[in-house]
Amino acid sequence: MTQDELKKAVGRAAIAHVVEGGIVGVGTGSTANFFIDALAEFRHRIRGAVASSEATRKRLEGHGIEVFDLNDVDQIPVYVDGADEINAAMQMIKGGGGALTREKIVAAVAGKFVCIADASKLVPVLGRFPLPVEVIPMALGHVQRELSRIGGSPRLRANFVTDNGNLIVDVHGLEIVDAVALETRLNQIVGVVTNGLFACRPADVCLLATGAGVQMLTAT
Ligand code: 5RP
Repeated sequence: MTQDELKKAVGRAAIAHVVEGGIVGVGTGSTANFFIDALAEFRHRIRGAVASSEATRKRLEGHGIEVFDLNDVDQIPVYVDGADEINAAMQMIKGGGGALTREKIVAAVAGKFVCIADASKLVPVLGRFPLPVEVIPMALGHVQRELSRIGGSPRLRANFVTDNGNLIVDVHGLEIVDAVALETRLNQIVGVVTNGLFACRPADVCLLATGAGVQMLTAT
């Protein structure tokens, strides 16, 4: 199976986790797009969705799915999103698509986080994928110096502005042994809006697409 076929399979499998009559939180990226396309067939059985990016909002609306502002919603039973890396503890690196801040906000509200990924995303140690950090533009120099002090090699993502009007710095060369500690530490750098570690609020379940089918993983 190609990587796209795996992503499509896992996007469809996530429909089983959507709560009928509820609002579904929807992530961003190519795997999330396959989920959105599958959700279109299910749209009459949900109240609507909350989107984690403008791209996701447009795709949902293109399928006739009502998109709610997060502030108009009290409860999101389930959030479905992809990941750039996930480990056995269900901790993730996210933000390859630059939507990490809104993804983290929607995930914080959701009762259950369902990560959808192809098998290439499951790793023993997080950090081979460069860690995205969203930065307020005027703090760029300061944040890059602080990230270097922590031991990473920060690189500004070229020609990219987030939905929130900020910049993304991708931090290379980190071997992340204690993801909760690093997520917390990076949040203390003035000028950092969010970092792409999802460890303080990991996924509850990972649906992992393999050549042998979709497996359901929980934290070990
Ligand atoms: C976007 C994300 C995505 O979930 C992550 O980049 C995975 O993307 P894809 O499904 O295209 O591999 O965090 O900000």
